[in-house]
Amino acid sequence: MSNLIVPDHSVLSRRSFLSTSSKVAAGAAALGALPVERFVHGASPGDTIKVALVGMGGRGSGAANQALSTGESVKLVAVADVHKDRMEGSLNQLKNAHKDKVQVKDENKFLGFDAYKHAIKDADLVILATPPGFRPMQFEEAIRQGKHVFMEKPVCVDVAGYKKVIAAAQEAKKKNLKVGVGLQRHHQAGYLETIKRLHDGQMGDIVAMRAYWNGNTPWVQKRADLEAKHGKLTELQYQMRNWYYFVWLCGDHICEQHIHNLDVINWVKRGHPVKARGNGGCETRKGPDYGEIFDHHVVEYTYEDGSVCFSQCRHQLGCWNDVSEHAVGTKGVCNIGGYTIRGENQWRFQGKGKDAYQQEHDDLFDAIRNDKPFNEAFYGADSSMTAVLGRMATYSGKEISWDDALKSEVSDTMVKNIDKVSWEEAIKLTPPTVPGPDGMYSLPVPGKTDVLKARKA
Ligand SMILES: NC(=O)c1ccc[n+]([C@@H]2O[C@H](COP(=O)([O-])OP(=O)(O)OC[C@H]3O[C@@H](n4cnc5c(N)ncnc54)[C@H](O)[C@@H]3O)[C@@H](O)[C@H]2O)c1
Repeated sequence: MSNLIVPDHSVLSRRSFLSTSSKVAAGAAALGALPVERFVHGASPGDTIKVALVGMGGRGSGAANQALSTGESVKLVAVADVHKDRMEGSLNQLKNAHKDKVQVKDENKFLGFDAYKHAIKDADLVILATPPGFRPMQFEEAIRQGKHVFMEKPVCVDVAGYKKVIAAAQEAKKKNLKVGVGLQRHHQAGYLETIKRLHDGQMGDIVAMRAYWNGNTPWVQKRADLEAKHGKLTELQYQMRNWYYFVWLCGDHICEQHIHNLDVINWVKRGHPVKARGNGGCETRKGPDYGEIFDHHVVEYTYEDGSVCFSQCRHQLGCWNDVSEHAVGTKGVCNIGGYTIRGENQWRFQGKGKDAYQQEHDDLFDAIRNDKPFNEAFYGADSSMTAVLGRMATYSGKEISWDDALKSEVSDTMVKNIDKVSWEEAIKLTPPTVPGPDGMYSLPVPGKTDVLKARKA
């Protein structure tokens, strides 16, 4: 792709947090030159791995902390966010935890929708932890610039994003770049042992599965509270602060949270479902600050071999809660996240493992240093798309096949040109959904909402 544009220096000099336009101009030239990646063929153990952090919220700060905890020879050199307050808070936290390893010069602190392009350039490894709607464009750019990547889940929230991530993952493979995805169960000892047993056939054929993320509602940023703190916001600025409740940014909670459980089922099945059908809606979480997403989705996924996964995710208060994955085989049943098998080959995991959030970074850095194969983007994309497929089924009320979903015209939900115009212009762009006169956003209507065509940009 060639979406690199010469940055608007006047905008950057106003918007960049203590950065200078000359540095930015130099950065743009460097981006154009695409310097040869230092560590594509492995680093020697003493080499310092330089990290850039894009998206400095809760998880981005956590992931940077874990990256900096992988060993001595690693440092944070550049950062990017759209919100200065989030950047400052995150940097303070990281400096407290890793004084000597946080070496971010003022001119390497970038603000704005195009900030990621500039932060990436000085790094060996980039952490992508913005709301997931931005992930495909940022991942594509990181790979284009020849960088190793750790990116949070989900890695896309729509079909266009899925295709972009798969294409960039293939490019990463060609360039021998390592890619980690924040589906940390893949680095959790109990899951690894349990799923190995399922793959070894100890449960016979797996014929049915269930996956749940039933819990309470997560955080919400109310417009009135935000405007009391930050002043009047444009609609786009408001949605950016309250991103969880908007599909173009979050994908709905089936993508944002339930992906963890769906990913485990795909892992067990070593593939993705071929079709989905489901029910969903918004029954209890109503109000203008809860945007356009459902508060429950119930999906039946069918895999190629005819086995079925029953999936539920719910954000409702005062109900039974459960976050788990189970499998039923011809020789037993398995509580996958509970690490137990009952039946012919009774078993319980007795081991201990490191915190999976740390382990996933340890494994990625080890792969970079020792040039081991490491590219989690393919299954990360498939699991993200599995969640998108479930949302398409619940929003439409129709049975949707994987293949038809990939052919759909309702494909790209990202705001066009958001990272190609100045900040002042970007915040005035119209998001894909806007509130009605009563302040409420319209929700999908099963049976009526068409998720396969229309709304083509
Ligand atoms: N693996 C896990 O268990 C886990 C846990 C929590 C969150 N996450 C994932 O991490 C991601 C971030 O979640 P969070 O809880 O940290 O959210 P957050 O709101 O705390 O942080 C997001 C940050 O990104 C910034 N941002 C938004 N758009 C940006 C852009 N275009 N460019 C640069 N910065 C931008 C925001 O200002 C904010 O600082 C999500 O995808 C979420 O699903 C994963």
